[in-house]
Amino acid sequence: MKLLICGKGGSGKSTISSLLAKSMASKGLDVLVIDTDESNYGLHRQLGMELPDDFMNFFGGKREMIKRLMKFFKNADVEKMESETINIFDQRWGFNDLPEEYLAKKDGIRLLAIGKIHDFGEGCACPMGVLAKTLLNNLNVAEKEVVIVDTDAGVEHFGRGVEHGCDAILAVVDPSYESLKLAGKIDGMAKGIGKKIYFVLNKVDDDNRAMMLESLDQLNVVGMIPANRDVFRAGLAGEELDLHLPEIESLAGEILRGDSRWH
Ligand SMILES: Nc1ncnc2c1ncn2[C@@H]1O[C@H](COP(=O)(O)OP(=O)(O)OP(=O)(O)O)[C@@H](O)[C@H]1O
Ligand SMILES: [Mg+2]
Repeated sequence: MKLLICGKGGSGKSTISSLLAKSMASKGLDVLVIDTDESNYGLHRQLGMELPDDFMNFFGGKREMIKRLMKFFKNADVEKMESETINIFDQRWGFNDLPEEYLAKKDGIRLLAIGKIHDFGEGCACPMGVLAKTLLNNLNVAEKEVVIVDTDAGVEHFGRGVEHGCDAILAVVDPSYESLKLAGKIDGMAKGIGKKIYFVLNKVDDDNRAMMLESLDQLNVVGMIPANRDVFRAGLAGEELDLHLPEIESLAGEILRGDSRWH
């Protein structure tokens, strides 16, 4: 299964990606986490790993990517640019084909980072989006393997079509008006492309639970993660999330049951 985690900035995407990855790995699944966020540096810390080299460098770096894109767009019309065919390589990959030097590993989890913005004026993150999309489209996932894709904030990745190669989407919703509003938009976009969509409420407490549930009552809410002091403290210190939350266990179970291969 390839599961993409999305939501508003700061809603808890990386936190839930890490906790889910750890929970699924502890069930004996082989987990590949893909960091597609070009800006943030929290995910590898939450997983207790070093940040691996940008996977984009495997293809010669960002300039090389831009060259490939320019070649692609040279004869393209608007319809072609909007289509889902922008693949910058054709090769198919299994977990074991991914180049070792671009992976960090710990406790049954592999981490691959598409690429980060490093320098002033280096250009936009489009090549990273295209690489993430192509990799997901071309990644074979065997039984007992799970891919968890942590995304950048908002819905730009929907615009780029990164979701195309995923089986399911988990949207993280925190207690804010923007997050609740965005949930409706994500639901519509996910259904529009025929993807399974789940919602998880995050940072839930007695004051916000009822209002959040009421606001999302038409959506497929499969879990609620409480506001947790240890999660918050680890996030502030940039420490590994080495804790077990029963709510994450049941969320992982719910998602795995939703994937037909685990029925
Ligand atoms: N359940 C929770 N309880 C307490 N704090 C939380 C919880 N979930 C996330 N946080 C905190 O909220 C902040 C944002 O979390 P996180 O970085 O996972 O969000 P994100 O959606 O990945 O953000 P970004 O959009 O910047 O990538 C962090 O400080 C994190 O520790
Ligand atoms: Mg994040």
